Amino acid sequence: MEKEGKPQGHAGIGHTRWATHGEPSDINSHPHSGKRVSIVHNGIIENYKQLKQFLIDNERDEFLSDTDTEIVAQLLDFYYDGNPIRCIRKVLHELRGSFALGIVFADHPETVYAVRCESPLIVGQGKGEVFLASDVPAIIKYTKDYYLLEYGEIAVLKNGSVNFCTLHGQMIEKELHTADFDEDSAEKGGYPHFMIKEINEQPTAVKTTITPRIENGMPNLSECGITPEALRSFKHIYIVACGTAMHAGMVGKYVIEKLARVHVTVDIASEFRYREPMLSEDDLVIIISQSGETADSKAVIGLAKELGAKTLAIVNVKGSSIARESDMVIYTHAGPEIAVASTKAYMVQLSVMYLLAFEMAYAKGKISEEECKRMTADLVAMPEKIEQTIKNSADICKYVSTKLIASESLLYIGRGLDYALSMEGSLKLKEISYIHSESYAAGELKHGTISLIHEGMPVIAVATQNSLLEKTVSNIKEVKARGAMTIVICDDQADIDRDAADYLIRVPKLSEMLMPMVATVPMQLLAYYTSVNKGNDVDKPRNLAKSVTVE
Ligand code: G6P
Repeated sequence: MEKEGKPQGHAGIGHTRWATHGEPSDINSHPHSGKRVSIVHNGIIENYKQLKQFLIDNERDEFLSDTDTEIVAQLLDFYYDGNPIRCIRKVLHELRGSFALGIVFADHPETVYAVRCESPLIVGQGKGEVFLASDVPAIIKYTKDYYLLEYGEIAVLKNGSVNFCTLHGQMIEKELHTADFDEDSAEKGGYPHFMIKEINEQPTAVKTTITPRIENGMPNLSECGITPEALRSFKHIYIVACGTAMHAGMVGKYVIEKLARVHVTVDIASEFRYREPMLSEDDLVIIISQSGETADSKAVIGLAKELGAKTLAIVNVKGSSIARESDMVIYTHAGPEIAVASTKAYMVQLSVMYLLAFEMAYAKGKISEEECKRMTADLVAMPEKIEQTIKNSADICKYVSTKLIASESLLYIGRGLDYALSMEGSLKLKEISYIHSESYAAGELKHGTISLIHEGMPVIAVATQNSLLEKTVSNIKEVKARGAMTIVICDDQADIDRDAADYLIRVPKLSEMLMPMVATVPMQLLAYYTSVNKGNDVDKPRNLAKSVTVE
């Protein structure tokens, strides 16, 4: 029945998704349907080709889309005998991959069935209404109360309430959680984009993350299950993550190795999990993840456990899979991060890297109590410094971004921590401005990449490490001499020859080690304003998803 062009009813499903199969188009959009079943799906069905063949062999050969999802809808339809739970169980046994499904059967139009296998799924409980979503921010406008589905659990949503059962139809009681943020934090609050709102939230996010972990001026991570004895015992640390979180790990490597004198290897989760890593019982594997649901990062936990290594998750989303499956968890308290390009989550991940490095260095006797207290005090002062940096660098970044918009390609260069940082700067710019960029260790340029430099090519040089300043400045001059337009990010006391930099972006001078926490701000702002100036969809860049629950 239709009224004013809209279908009438009390139950419905819809989905915006990252396309794993087929181009993003109307025909490939969810829901997908068989004759008697419609579904929405988050994740990926790895064996969809075989299943499609099975359907074709059984005279089900009419497919409208290029998606793996449609195959699931058709398969549900094929097996449906009037008993939804039995049908879901049957189909689930045939599917391989990571996925969550929302399902409506035509003969039960007022009921939505949902099932989780790997990909996250929650059910929000409002007053007389229920909501199905992948994540809490999607429903926070309507309710803060939600249930978290576990692997293989089915939710049956009907008449404003929800029941849960196993795949075998056995009823289960589930705990109701309450989100610790509200609609305001999931709304733009007067900012034009979530990204700029989240950049501005960084001072508060850092404060909220570090304050509960500092006692008498010393870092104290014991409430996260991390003891000084444990910190002394690890022979090798592996930091494994994806995207921005991996870049936070790069900073962590420099800081932990420098202070605690422990070997740290940083790896991309999708590489680590398949390269037969040499983990042992004396190792610590740190998994950093904003969402706590990234498929590749999650897979690392199982691998680490199998080989006897301890796992520590640094995660922003409470109750997420990575947090629940790891031996120890440090929650970052950034609040919901909505923009796809991560800013405040990275910043709080950095702050945790510092806390961990300080505590580990002290536990191992590599720094004195006095040194540890001084470093911790510097960290406590960071929110104010970040705030100052946002305020002072916004205008120059806005201006410099107008010089970048016409570029097709640019380079980020730096040494040491500045190199680790420039990786994130480069990712930020490319993901939302669509300008190709690469980060390069400044000293490595002359071994090939410098041949790319041409007249007017922008080079963003991060030069905040005083002990490496002269060397970095030499590299800046090398590219300048070959025609590059140089944008230099340095501290407000650095002595940089005026003729080395076309544009200077200055940030507050802090101890060398903490410079990433302020130097990252202008890189975020440069990316943001370049994207805005190009008229791009800043918060939802093309082809990207906030939480990547597929391999
Ligand atoms: C996606 C996001 C990135 C993020 C990465 C890792 O690619 O677009 O911003 O850094 O996943 O996500 P995680 O939730 O594990 O930090």
